[in-house]
Amino acid sequence: MQPTLAPYPATRLRRLRRTPALRALVQETTLSPADFIWPVFVRDGEGVVEPITSMPGVNRLSVDKVVEAAAEAHALGIPAICLFPYTDPALKTEDCAEAWNPDNLSNRATRAIKQAVPDIAIMTDVALDPYNINGHDGFVENGEIVNDRTVEALVKQALSQADAGADIIGPSDMMDGRIGALRTALEGAGHQNVLLLSYAAKYASAFYGPFRDAVGASGALQGDKKTYQQDPGNSDEAMRLIARDLAEGADMIMVKPGMPYLDICRRAHEMFGAPTFAYQVSGEYAMIAGAGERGWIDGDKAMLESLTSFKRAGCDGVLTYFAPAAARLLNG
Ligand code: PBG
Repeated sequence: MQPTLAPYPATRLRRLRRTPALRALVQETTLSPADFIWPVFVRDGEGVVEPITSMPGVNRLSVDKVVEAAAEAHALGIPAICLFPYTDPALKTEDCAEAWNPDNLSNRATRAIKQAVPDIAIMTDVALDPYNINGHDGFVENGEIVNDRTVEALVKQALSQADAGADIIGPSDMMDGRIGALRTALEGAGHQNVLLLSYAAKYASAFYGPFRDAVGASGALQGDKKTYQQDPGNSDEAMRLIARDLAEGADMIMVKPGMPYLDICRRAHEMFGAPTFAYQVSGEYAMIAGAGERGWIDGDKAMLESLTSFKRAGCDGVLTYFAPAAARLLNG
């Protein structure tokens, strides 16, 4: 849209910015706790709150503490929580069998939250990296990350998550054909109401570093993820991936990372109109939280400004480690 403006002084755009009341009246984008999905890291034990050095303010929580976090999130008006397990290195294997163990950490946390906080939506992660001895999202055969055998494993993993009570399944693995395979398997198993939030446009990014520390995958990772995650230079490819995943049965789509890819968010939302989410990833969090901690920026203001940018770019919501802090500020 090209606005027609009367020439100055008939038009003085500063009139609309003169007072807080007038600014509130014409604000285009608003942010609320209902826009957030809160990713949390789960670990073994009881009563454990273990800080993650590269993510100031974020902790690995034992299942009982995750339940408390879910209750807190629900009270703050955050509609969904997303679980990422920190798996005991002894349970990481080449066949990744822990990924579909009905009693693995992620599934235990899901059941505990469902019982204690039934109204919060639970999202789980589908990918093999927390369970894989070499840190990759798929099986590795002779140095290659193989697609189809990985998809079979992802289906087993997702079914175990749905059985445990997950509401939203988030495949973050970037294998081809997994959305269709997951949708068919979920329908077949009577899980027709389980949502798929596809990490459709996920880039091979340097901004995932702190997350890999958080889930204990940094040391393990051999090589990089460029044969399955996208080249940061590509935008048309992202649209093809999103179109494909929606056609295969994704209910919602995600762009990841967030802030360096707001153009992709905007384009995806305009082109498809499907519920669109951005993941403000660990490295983005670390930059804002780290600089805020040192007093180099106003961390709270930068947090809210960054979250507003996702909404302005067309996102319906955002996965963010800031969820509880931002919700507390927004709730006053
Ligand atoms: C892997 C996965 C990653 C993240 C979520 N799921 C990392 C990766 O692809 O290596 C990153 C999230 C973040 O950085 O906050 N399945």
